[in-house]
Amino acid sequence: MSNNIDGKVVVITGASSGLGEATARHLSGQGAIVVLGARRVERLQAIVGELARSGAKALAVTTDVIHRDQVQKLADTAVQNFGRVDVMLNNAGLMQRSPLERLKVDEWDNMIDINIKGVLYGIAAALPHMQRQKGGQFINVSSVAGHKVTPNGTVYCATKHAVRVISEGLRQEVKPYNIRTTIISPGAVATELPSHITDAESAAGIQKFYEGFAIPADSFARAVAFAISQPEDVDINEILFRPTRQEL
Ligand SMILES: NC(=O)c1ccc[n+]([C@@H]2O[C@H](COP(=O)([O-])OP(=O)(O)OC[C@H]3O[C@@H](n4cnc5c(N)ncnc54)[C@H](OP(=O)(O)O)[C@@H]3O)[C@@H](O)[C@H]2O)c1
Repeated sequence: MSNNIDGKVVVITGASSGLGEATARHLSGQGAIVVLGARRVERLQAIVGELARSGAKALAVTTDVIHRDQVQKLADTAVQNFGRVDVMLNNAGLMQRSPLERLKVDEWDNMIDINIKGVLYGIAAALPHMQRQKGGQFINVSSVAGHKVTPNGTVYCATKHAVRVISEGLRQEVKPYNIRTTIISPGAVATELPSHITDAESAAGIQKFYEGFAIPADSFARAVAFAISQPEDVDINEILFRPTRQEL
């Protein structure tokens, strides 16, 4: 029986580490063709090499999601090589927590560019292909921070709330094209995400939080696989999950 993943062409931004990498491996193991984007292309190539050696089809494309043309090239490469984009996983993200009063405005800009505009560019890149195909699925990565606001996380939380708003608007608008839209909002998952925080106090707080109970990235990959594997007339619109031990 088909798992509804086998043979699908899945484009993943932010696939060089953490959730994106785990998902690339998991979906590839279920028969998906994966097209991987991120800035650290040597990491992508290592993953692609490994997947290819086990018989899977995979491609790496250098992609910085702050540049629309690069995200377009990522989606177009999938279509040129494999004929379609079945799933666009807008996963690339940055978390730089700090109190607003520290005025780390460059970090605010980076998070807005990557977490919001990057997702919009992913939609712009894949939507015309999916309209033409009359089918496809967007999976946009929000966070528990897209449901709650926490001190020192204002801008990150704002970007992740924005992902949910954009995804819900997209869901309503793409009905004529048979396109599914899924928001996935993870809690604490062990990845490189906390390593980009430059505010020492915030970094120490988050490190303690993650050390307490962060779960493996495969938890996210399984949620993605669940959303994709549903029959085409079932649209899993939103998944929110946390480590069992995470309170807030
Ligand atoms: N881990 C968690 O606890 C957690 C919880 C909720 C939500 N999330 C969300 O999950 C997503 C993935 O994060 P992660 O936890 O897997 O962290 P991660 O290990 O730091 O991975 C982030 C990925 O995004 C990529 N990226 C960052 N800036 C980029 C850019 N400008 N262009 C293209 N790719 C870029 C990175 O690749 P390069 O550096 O190679 O470009 C990397 O592959 C993010 O959206 C994050 O907000 C994570």
